Amino acid sequence: FDPVGILAIEVYFPRKYVDQRALESFDGVTPGKYTIGLGQQAMSFCGDREDVRSMCMTVVQTLMEKYRIEYNDIGRLEVGTETIIDRAKSIKTALMSLFEQSGNFEVEGIDSTNACYAGTNALFNTIAWCESCTLFDGRFGLVVCGDIAVYPRGPARATGGAGAVALLIGRAQPQRYPQLEPILVLEPGLKSSHFENTWDFFKPARRQDTEYPIVNGTESIACYFRALDICYTRFTGRVEQQTRRTRVWLAETSGRPGAEQVTEQQSLRCTLLTSTAFAEPSVTPVADADATQLDYVVFHAPFNKLVRKSFARLVLNDYLRYPELASQHRAVSGALRAQLAKLKRLPAHLNPTGVCVPPPSTYWDRTLMQLVLECSEPLYRAKCAPSTTLARQTGNAYTASLFGNLLCLLDAERDRTLGKRVVLFGFGSGMAASMYAMRVVASPEALLRRVGLIERLGARIPTSPACFHETLRLREQNYGACDYEPSEPLEELFPGTYYLVRIDGRGIRYYDRY
Ligand code: ACO
Repeated sequence: FDPVGILAIEVYFPRKYVDQRALESFDGVTPGKYTIGLGQQAMSFCGDREDVRSMCMTVVQTLMEKYRIEYNDIGRLEVGTETIIDRAKSIKTALMSLFEQSGNFEVEGIDSTNACYAGTNALFNTIAWCESCTLFDGRFGLVVCGDIAVYPRGPARATGGAGAVALLIGRAQPQRYPQLEPILVLEPGLKSSHFENTWDFFKPARRQDTEYPIVNGTESIACYFRALDICYTRFTGRVEQQTRRTRVWLAETSGRPGAEQVTEQQSLRCTLLTSTAFAEPSVTPVADADATQLDYVVFHAPFNKLVRKSFARLVLNDYLRYPELASQHRAVSGALRAQLAKLKRLPAHLNPTGVCVPPPSTYWDRTLMQLVLECSEPLYRAKCAPSTTLARQTGNAYTASLFGNLLCLLDAERDRTLGKRVVLFGFGSGMAASMYAMRVVASPEALLRRVGLIERLGARIPTSPACFHETLRLREQNYGACDYEPSEPLEELFPGTYYLVRIDGRGIRYYDRY
């Protein structure tokens, strides 16, 4: 079989945004709290013309038009979202209105919901469908992720955002769509997951009069770090195991004796640390051309500071798994070495899953974090920072965040990503998380030209913090309203955007396109 992969990506974010520096000053917080403390530059938000359905419709229709794909050629459509618009009716069914003209009503798949993780679930379902010999019908799959992240006034509000992403999944079909080929493919076997019952972020049924979640910010960050540590430890273990097996097989099939010896002599360690980071090339943990190399890491991004710290945590994990590397790594200061030695003396924190990870005290240890942030800075700039522009500019788009960041990485690194391994970390409170690897197998240039990410970010309309808060106040006031006609001027939308025309007395929503 030809490989299944991501053939196309499209992104949507609202035209309006608020500048985080202006918001700091308007909210009366200390300068730098949102821009440095959270690492955010701007935040996208919607007025009353847009909801999660309209954003998903916009991103799907735009992708279909840009690639001239016929709706008849879609066999599966999976939506990942946590924005509640109807408690019984899925967003997928609303998207079926786009299929009406084509007459294609045989499209499987439905919504997945669990905080920001649901997009990852939708992706796994769609890839599994495409690879299934019993279920696959030869057509394309579509994964659609969209969310509006809003919080009440207070410390969480600056971590809001809005956006949607559509991913076209499938195999190449050169006769019908010569311009489409897999650009990113999942690497077999290189996936780890962690699921737990937590209450860090939820939207209980008793609070149906608001779109705001109940969120325990500190707990949500602890959940994120815990899931990250566990997924990374399992993930790197699987990469190492796979490399070992491949090398044994290669040694055996090459007819040379002592396959196991050969394997042991070779370094199998899977870390983010690259050879250039070491004073002694002989202690290089991974050769630059080695299959175990992790070239890029893309995170679900609630706010940039969390992404920066998460990358640092992965490096901390590397040092704790392989202390000898820390002692030879040029950037590791004496102070960090002392901290690592102290950590090593603590009893290993074996959580109930049996995976050995750094203890929870490290989540809030500012001295340790500062030292790891400093020494991981060059690695962060090379492997993670290129994926962060979109999320710093638009905020947390929940389920769409991870895939928007993947697109952003491709946009920043262009053909430099060719042949490279991208590690993705999807997380949703409550809690669900997966880490998995994708390989860039074809040039993303044509895809990026169609998206025009940077130009579109530049074409947005800045809005005052007063207008931003007022818009959210109106959303609060009208949440769940029937017999409602939105008042936001259409000129505040990008051309081609689907918008809400009215909500009738029964709560049925009607849309049109600008
Ligand atoms: N200049 C520079 N930095 C500053 C300033 C300033 N003037 N003021 C504060 N800071 C720093 C703080 O030191 C802190 O940094 P640190 O964590 O590196 O020490 C950071 O800004 C945040 O400030 P805090 O006071 O610690 O936290 P705050 O009360 O602002 O809340 C939080 C932050 C918890 C993230 C809140 O915004 C929130 O609840 N957001 C929603 C939940 C969330 O996003 N969770 C993440 C995972 S789950 C998900 O995706 C929804």
